Amino acid sequence: MDTLYEDVAKLMIERKRCVALTGAGVSAESGISTFRSRGGLWEKYDPAVYASIEVFRRDPSKYWSIRGDFIRDYDSYQPNNAHLALAELEKMGILQSVVTQNIDGLHTKAGSKRVIEVHGTIREINCLKCRKQYIAPHVPEGTPPYCESCGGVLKPNTVLFGEQLPPDALMNAQNESLICNVMLVIGTSANVYPAAALPELALQHGAAIVEVNIERAFPSVDYYLGEKAGTALPKLVDEIRKQSSYSIS
Ligand code: OAD
Repeated sequence: MDTLYEDVAKLMIERKRCVALTGAGVSAESGISTFRSRGGLWEKYDPAVYASIEVFRRDPSKYWSIRGDFIRDYDSYQPNNAHLALAELEKMGILQSVVTQNIDGLHTKAGSKRVIEVHGTIREINCLKCRKQYIAPHVPEGTPPYCESCGGVLKPNTVLFGEQLPPDALMNAQNESLICNVMLVIGTSANVYPAAALPELALQHGAAIVEVNIERAFPSVDYYLGEKAGTALPKLVDEIRKQSSYSIS
């Protein structure tokens, strides 16, 4: 094990109160596209057209025309080693919570208990008129689909550009960032605010920042683990186990 992983493991054991902020890179190894990496969704589609609340209000068919890229049978996707390692870190008492920009539910499926979904969840599709809820992939056909009960337009419970984040989730995410001593920032290009500001908030309050990403997004973090999340995080878990057992014996 190289010393970088030893150092990060030591930091996490000593400082306690670790929080993870995750992005699309964490789910890449589960076969879900990222947005801005090569081949990502926003290379194919302009988010200002296909993921804007303003356009959605005028013409929801734009968003729904790419429904195949969003509304999938998420039950068929499995958490990868990165999700599982984060769930393990929580069980070990090292990780306090996962703040995620992902809408796929894979952290929960991996066993993480405290997951804050700041961009909502794609599993829930709501009627904008009567609030009836559909659970993906069981959504009526159509571009856009209409509510079977009242004929209203359906919209996933996810945040589009120009929309507010769910207030409770944002408040919880900011609180976690304020009180953590170490923030793991994993698989995010940190382009979308306010989630991208959370590491800065943690830093201002004295936390150490550890970035896990195949391409560096933060130029000045304390530690950078430049490997796939599904490789780096299990290595970190192993190293923490090793060091914890040393300190116990
Ligand atoms: P991006 O697609 O912008 O960034 C993905 C990041 O993951 C990049 O920095 C990649 O280098 C990195 N990456 C890719 N594969 C990886 C792997 N196997 N291990 C580690 N890192 C890897 O995704 P986000 O930053 O999550 O918002 O995007 C933020 C938001 O933009 C999304 O939540 C979504 C999107 O528009 C909404 O839909 C509101």
